[in-house]
Amino acid sequence: MSAIAAGPPRPDSPDSEPAVPGPATGPGDTGRSAVRSLLRLWPYVRPVRARLFTAALVAIVASCLGLVIPLILKWLVDGPIADRDADGVWLGGALLLTVGVLEALLFGLRRWLVARPLAGVEAAMRADLFRHLQRLPIAFHDRWASGQLLSRATADLQLLRLFLAFPLTFLLVNGTTILVGFGVLLVQEWTLGLVLLLPVVPLVLLCSVFEARYSRAARRAQDQIGDLTTVVEESVLGIRIIKGFGRHRSQARAFRALSHRLLGTELHKARLLAGIWAVIMTLPELAIGAALVLGTVQVADGELSAGTLVAFLTTALALRWPVESIGFLLAMSNEAATATDRYFEVMDEPLPPDTLTRGGPAPSAPAAPAPAAPVPADGLRFERVVFRYPDAPPDAPPVLDGVDLHVRSGETMALVGATGSGKTTLTALIPRLHEATSGRITLDGRDVAALPRDELRSLIAVAFEEPTLFSASVRENVLMGARSPEEAGQEELARALRVAQAEEFVNALPRGVETQVGEQGLSLSGGQRQRLALARAVVGRPRFLVLDDPLSALDVHTEALVEAALREVLAETTALVVAHRPSTVLLADRVALLSRGRITAVGTHHELLASSTEYRHLMSGEQREEER
Ligand SMILES: Nc1ncnc2c1ncn2[C@@H]1O[C@H](COP(=O)(O)OP(=O)(O)OP(=O)(O)O)[C@@H](O)[C@H]1O
Ligand SMILES: [Mg+2]
Repeated sequence: MSAIAAGPPRPDSPDSEPAVPGPATGPGDTGRSAVRSLLRLWPYVRPVRARLFTAALVAIVASCLGLVIPLILKWLVDGPIADRDADGVWLGGALLLTVGVLEALLFGLRRWLVARPLAGVEAAMRADLFRHLQRLPIAFHDRWASGQLLSRATADLQLLRLFLAFPLTFLLVNGTTILVGFGVLLVQEWTLGLVLLLPVVPLVLLCSVFEARYSRAARRAQDQIGDLTTVVEESVLGIRIIKGFGRHRSQARAFRALSHRLLGTELHKARLLAGIWAVIMTLPELAIGAALVLGTVQVADGELSAGTLVAFLTTALALRWPVESIGFLLAMSNEAATATDRYFEVMDEPLPPDTLTRGGPAPSAPAAPAPAAPVPADGLRFERVVFRYPDAPPDAPPVLDGVDLHVRSGETMALVGATGSGKTTLTALIPRLHEATSGRITLDGRDVAALPRDELRSLIAVAFEEPTLFSASVRENVLMGARSPEEAGQEELARALRVAQAEEFVNALPRGVETQVGEQGLSLSGGQRQRLALARAVVGRPRFLVLDDPLSALDVHTEALVEAALREVLAETTALVVAHRPSTVLLADRVALLSRGRITAVGTHHELLASSTEYRHLMSGEQREEER
């Protein structure tokens, strides 16, 4: 997923655009309707619909109250002012003040009504996205750039909350206000009202053109924010490599190029917005000017009262903001529609079949191998397993091409093969991090594809090549591997740490097992991390243990100590251990050799040394060391 983790920008493309994997640009802009996109938000909005509608209603009332002001003015001008009635003027002033204050209070109430529920909507959507991301298969995460996911979970969701709080209500409110306002205008003086209505037709046409163009630009901008997030994230994660290779300048250049691209898109958006805004501001202004001239002529001719003209013009001016705001409300709605699309692009990714049924909270105690129905202790079997990565080129041969392997119950099998031969891939198929393309993998005779995931994961523990620790204490990191981390005791933790020979260094940490490690905590050495990962794998006393080169980062002495302790654990389980060195191979009862996608030889270390040239070759470097 992280392109830069593999190194700084490649020499063949010096400082050009950084590699941004994943479907950064979604379908988005072809034939998409903003309204249809936004309607998909309904399930999230439903729970707070009462509050939202009340808020909209309050805002409509407040906005229409604003339209009462011109009517009071009309009464003031034609009545008390014309009659020089001081009391009447005071009364009019008091009325105006009351209406104004009421309007302000109602708008305040609206804001109070929506703030909390909408924060809840945003939180719910984010939680759903996170849950979905956690359940999506590894193949999905291989395909998508993490920055794209991150920006969807943050920037896009923020846009959506803003949309629900503001443009959604105000499109409704301002639309209603405009309709009511024009009604009032037409009733007061229909000829002048028609003059004001004239610009509506070109405005609607221009807005629809604007909408289409703006939504394309919005989509581009949001995708580019995702790309930028990816670069920032990778630069932070890969900071050692960037510094080590002195690539900070080129990395900064790559960042600048991307942010320049984003700047261009944002400027394009601003230009579009400025254009539509100019039109939206100018046309009504011209119409009001024309109405003013016409109205004044009518007043001069005595066909219209001065009060009506004042009321008419004040109403027209009061409608300016609702009309003018339509432009940026449409723009914000468009961005929200794009954000919705981006959100649902991830949410629509199908989950692996058997995770679908589990909607509720995860069962607290994953089913242990049921004692009621004893299963034959058949061990671990691969039967004609073929696997091809979903994103591999179609003409590439499968990574695994008919693997047959039987790890007997209680046995420890070492898996040996050249680098890139597919060992990690093979181990990832057992806990179904990837699904086998064809063939079967069975645990004690039961097909892993048919086992519920919870049960499968409780049967197997894994330690991967690259030990990952989370920002949590040593205890939490290790007990993550226990069947029920809450119940696992001090004893199990101590035993796991002892097997991994991690006791000594953990005790030397400032707060022992409570020390925070991982990204935000104290950094550990590669070998220390590897030992904690190993402790995590063995803490739950799993029925099956899969270790991918678990001791590669340890010095010879520590390795020997871990091996001695590991033997105890291996004696109790069925294990598949990927090994590169003879010392690790010697932990195993038998060895399987993986070559060109198949298991080409199985036997003890010594048998294979005698019978397989490839095996001899793979082991030879270390062999000489050992013989010395
Ligand atoms: N996510 C992926 N998508 C496509 N191809 C992949 C992916 N991961 C690995 N591969 C390819 O699959 C092949 C086997 O990789 P794998 O990691 O299983 O090798 P390995 O035997 O574990 O190697 P090593 O000893 O170096 O750890 C490699 O050619 C690799 O390029
Ligand atoms: Mg590997």
